[in-house]
Amino acid sequence: MKKTVCVIGLGNRGTEYLGFLKYFHRSKVDIFALCDSRQQALDDIAPRFAVPQERRFVSTDAFFAKGVLSDALIIATQDASHYAITKQAILTGYKLILLEKPVSGVRAEYTELRDLAKAHGALLIICHVLRYSNYYGKIKEILASGQLGEIVSVNHTENVGYFHFAHSFVRGNWRSEAASTPSILAKCCHDIDLIAWFMDSPCVSVSSVGSLRFFRKENAPAGAAATCMGGCKAKKDCPYDAEKLYLTDPFYKAKFIKYMKRTLTGKAHNKRSDVENAVRNGDYGRCVFACDNDVCDNQTVTMTFRNGATAVLCMNGFSDRMFRECHIVGTKGELVGYGSKLTMHLFGGKTTRVRTSPIHLSGHVEGDIRLISGFVKLLCGETDDLTNVTTIDATVISHDIALAAEESRRNGGVPVRMKET
Ligand SMILES: NC(=O)c1ccc[n+]([C@@H]2O[C@H](COP(=O)([O-])OP(=O)(O)OC[C@H]3O[C@@H](n4cnc5c(N)ncnc54)[C@H](O)[C@@H]3O)[C@@H](O)[C@H]2O)c1
Repeated sequence: MKKTVCVIGLGNRGTEYLGFLKYFHRSKVDIFALCDSRQQALDDIAPRFAVPQERRFVSTDAFFAKGVLSDALIIATQDASHYAITKQAILTGYKLILLEKPVSGVRAEYTELRDLAKAHGALLIICHVLRYSNYYGKIKEILASGQLGEIVSVNHTENVGYFHFAHSFVRGNWRSEAASTPSILAKCCHDIDLIAWFMDSPCVSVSSVGSLRFFRKENAPAGAAATCMGGCKAKKDCPYDAEKLYLTDPFYKAKFIKYMKRTLTGKAHNKRSDVENAVRNGDYGRCVFACDNDVCDNQTVTMTFRNGATAVLCMNGFSDRMFRECHIVGTKGELVGYGSKLTMHLFGGKTTRVRTSPIHLSGHVEGDIRLISGFVKLLCGETDDLTNVTTIDATVISHDIALAAEESRRNGGVPVRMKET
């Protein structure tokens, strides 16, 4: 018999996961019910997945009032609602829950969810999708094989991309700590999760420096206006001009921004006039130097692990492309990862280009697809192996490190000793 899944949150992530369930797993899984606080989202998305009116919910209270409706639940709402919705899901009796990251910026909340899940026999998995990609899986496999000897250090850089940073962390949903979390948690809990996974040893100390260096009022160029389409005289040379990014630049220049129209308008299907209206009048048309953003646009975190190894994570919002770099040094060799290219050098031996994936997909998209495949295997009872599954226990580790980094940064980089969890 087919298994059933409900999804709460029908934005970018929720819709992507629904698509993967429908296109890759339809023989095993049915989408049973959907919930979103926006009627527009339900109207747009539910017909695509043949979910009838009576199983569309515009509030989580109405959804949970029905009791347990499916074998598994996906929660893909915005960050600030994760704790309350997940708590309600566990208390209602859902036993398999896939929750978007970050879980919460408050330690008492994410540890409560961990303990609650355990007490209620629920498996709570967090979407640290990169771990599921062939690329990072291969790195983990090489480290575990011992070919590099003992791990000495990891140097990892998250190049967010100038246009992506402006979209999400200056104009958009993750611009303010109060509405979401510090950027080192919102953006880099994946990177910290990867580093902790590679190290396989508890983190004992964290220090960090960083700031909101550039996207501030005082850096506005002469002639800048409050909005890009509101008479800005600096827009010609401004790479952040929203009119170019969302409306006029050709696809190759606007990069991923064109996929983000849904975020601008709240609609799944958009006419040019919808996007233009959003750029003219909405948050995403604001000058990047005149927003209410407060999260760091650059931050460096140094971590020491109990096995003596160290790691440095650099996050910056200023690269031309979105890509991650990872340099892992062991006592017998090193791995150099650049975007999706991975090279292994064994000291005194061979240098090899490591093949990670038969087809080229962004590590993120590939991770997303494989996360859902792993989730479906667990759902269908095809495996009960939780090795390398990103359960809430792993998340507590990455979130603890991110919060310690933030504490250190606020105190001028003073190291924070990690408590045993
Ligand atoms: N795993 C990853 O790599 C990854 C990548 C991007 C975003 N995210 C995370 O995924 C989550 C969703 O991101 P997104 O880009 O899809 O956001 P989104 O804003 O596109 O979608 C969120 C949806 O949830 C709905 N919603 C909000 N509050 C709700 C509530 N209380 N009840 C029901 N519905 C509610 C909104 O109406 C919206 O449709 C965020 O927490 C984000 O940080 C994770």
